[in-house]
Amino acid sequence: MTQITRRGVATMVVILPLTTALGCSAPSRESVPPAVEVPRIPQTGEFGPASHTYELVGPLVPKTTTMVTAWDLPQNPLTDPALDIRQDADLIRQGFQLFTNTPEATPRFTTSGMTCANCHLNQGQRELALPLVGTSGMFPEYNNRAGRNFSLEDRIVGCFYRSENAVHGPDNGGLAAARSGAVPSPPSVNTDTLVLPNVASQEVIALAAYLRYLSEGYTPGEDPPWRKKNRILRENLLPIDALDPQRGEAIYTELCVNCHGPEGQGVQVGDKKAGPLWGPRSWNDGAGMARFYTLAGFVRYAMPYLDPGILSDKDAQHVSAFIISKPRPSYPYKTEDYQVEPLPVDAAFYGLDNAEAVSGHSPQP
Ligand code: HEC
Ligand code: HEC
Repeated sequence: MTQITRRGVATMVVILPLTTALGCSAPSRESVPPAVEVPRIPQTGEFGPASHTYELVGPLVPKTTTMVTAWDLPQNPLTDPALDIRQDADLIRQGFQLFTNTPEATPRFTTSGMTCANCHLNQGQRELALPLVGTSGMFPEYNNRAGRNFSLEDRIVGCFYRSENAVHGPDNGGLAAARSGAVPSPPSVNTDTLVLPNVASQEVIALAAYLRYLSEGYTPGEDPPWRKKNRILRENLLPIDALDPQRGEAIYTELCVNCHGPEGQGVQVGDKKAGPLWGPRSWNDGAGMARFYTLAGFVRYAMPYLDPGILSDKDAQHVSAFIISKPRPSYPYKTEDYQVEPLPVDAAFYGLDNAEAVSGHSPQP
């Protein structure tokens, strides 16, 4: 009972601002609550199980549900009574909190504004939004970029280096600047107090525990059918030189700016705020999301948040080209990637003149 009441309160908080903000084309200032510095940290017992006013898709929250379901979790370690008697409960719950509030929970690693759950929606439990349920048993898995097998922990460390920009690379000045061979400007943060995560870092181990929890009951090595589905069909991929960032900017202004803001830094919408799409606190140019087709595959099926699927394959690619054209941190070790496997055509920032200027030795062998 307590759970249902609490969930009711949490849902109200979400519904009210969201319906007002999203009903109109441009949210008025009064309808959006004032932005807060630190996103609300979910507390134990705060989320109930998924509301189940809709059918789950297998184990996942369906892509077509509303923003009211933004915090729905078919598997919630904070409220799962089965965990109470387990010794690893605290670790799994810590991993969940890390996944939900990554920058606040890992200040020693990253100064980015990216939370794992900004890209893996509903904490990795939403259909067609990079779901992670049932995937931990697929590791170790060959990693094309590194040219070797990756454990789950290796994969998470990679996410920190790239999606979370834990390497704190310099500003690349945007795609045009990078293509012209401009030398990146130094990082804007003091990196003295920061450390690099590795496979033995406590936070990485906790995140892996949460992801393994999401995969309990699945057969290791059996690819779940919802894995790696954020992909545009190969025959519908535009050639790289047909991508049009200007057309993408128009789409952004029409369909994305309300929630992501004119500067791409994210607008507080209810108790949700997207991570920065570009700029010094965004993912760096060695991340999967800095590849045209990878970003487009996410946007095509998971965005706009309330109407995923409305973009055409082409428009998803143009808007992604616009986002990728903007400045973001440079991943300083790009020259060490793709030493074994061929460079994918959409890896926008690889093979450019300036790559040499920022190369070094990758801390992830
Ligand atoms: C109704 C609000 C809304 C609209 C409109 C919207 N988004 Fe989002 N978007 C979000 C929220 C909220 C998140 C983060 C989700 C979370 O943390 O659960 C997000 C996450 C993302 C992410 C993941 C990375 C990040 O920085 O958070 C990308 C990329 C993205 N959106 C692109 C787009 C694009 C492109 C459009 C327009 C086609 C769009 N979005 C429209 C709300 C919206
Ligand atoms: C900027 C967006 C973004 C952020 C932030 C992000 N990821 Fe990812 N993640 C991706 C993309 C894109 C993929 C590739 C998905 C695919 O291949 O379909 C991925 C893949 C993964 C995979 C492999 C999934 C599989 O099925 O092979 C794991 C595990 C993972 N991410 C964990 C994390 C963790 C943990 C964090 C936070 C520390 C995180 N991610 C942050 C975008 C992101």
